[in-house]
Amino acid sequence: MNQERFTAVDQYLDELFVGQDEALERALQRSAEAGLPAISVSPTQGKFLSLLARMCRARRILEIGTLGGYSAIWLARALPQDGQLVSLEYEPRHAAVARANIADAGFAGQVTVHEGRALDLLSRLEAQHGEPFDFVFIDADKDSYTQYLEWSIRLARSGATIVADNVIRDGAVVNAGSRDAMVQGVRRFNATLAADPRVSGTALQLVGSKGYDGMAIAVVL
Ligand code: SAH
Ligand code: DHB
Ligand code: MG
Repeated sequence: MNQERFTAVDQYLDELFVGQDEALERALQRSAEAGLPAISVSPTQGKFLSLLARMCRARRILEIGTLGGYSAIWLARALPQDGQLVSLEYEPRHAAVARANIADAGFAGQVTVHEGRALDLLSRLEAQHGEPFDFVFIDADKDSYTQYLEWSIRLARSGATIVADNVIRDGAVVNAGSRDAMVQGVRRFNATLAADPRVSGTALQLVGSKGYDGMAIAVVL
């Protein structure tokens, strides 16, 4: 693969379309210092998510998989004044770093990080009968992606957008016989997304500083 070239082009695009961004840079630095894995979306992907949420005029956003809050900050920036982002994270250490990063970026009042297994937290959200979500970003454990899709459809309004990260996995997604549980998880997810009559979706391959992967995008019908 041409990883060097993908990284160089991502640097070029970052400089043009993102530039110096102190809150995001501090978020990545704090995450690295705390020993979190460097698996957040890239700057250009973060801006892409933020633009998508803005294009949808999303007022209520659900994120599954917070890590250090990097993508959450991007998504929160798309919100109107009265908008809310709910983000779900299993690891208490990740959630703590994310809350610090989110507060530092000025979004403590608009972003709530819930701690626990996403599947438990999602059923709790349903029981609370909150307003439906306008936009969902799925980015936690790949094994459970199909269940996250089901919950996203249940918790989102008709017309809502669902985006899922990491659905290409370096191209390994084409290997039906893969013994990698992550690959099998995204294969099940992609097949379900394609077949489910309640959504219309597609997936895009992406290259850049984070390697070769991709995102699925869907609308709830
Ligand atoms: N969206 C983030 C990256 C998320 S990485 C960003 O782009 O900045 C995936 C995160 O999902 C990790 O923090 C991991 O701890 C979390 N996770 C894994 N399994 C989970 C589960 N069952 N429930 C909730 N979070 C989970
Ligand atoms: C990996 C990357 C991700 O974006 C993610 O959400 C989970 C894992 C990875 O490269 O392992
Ligand atoms: Mg991801």
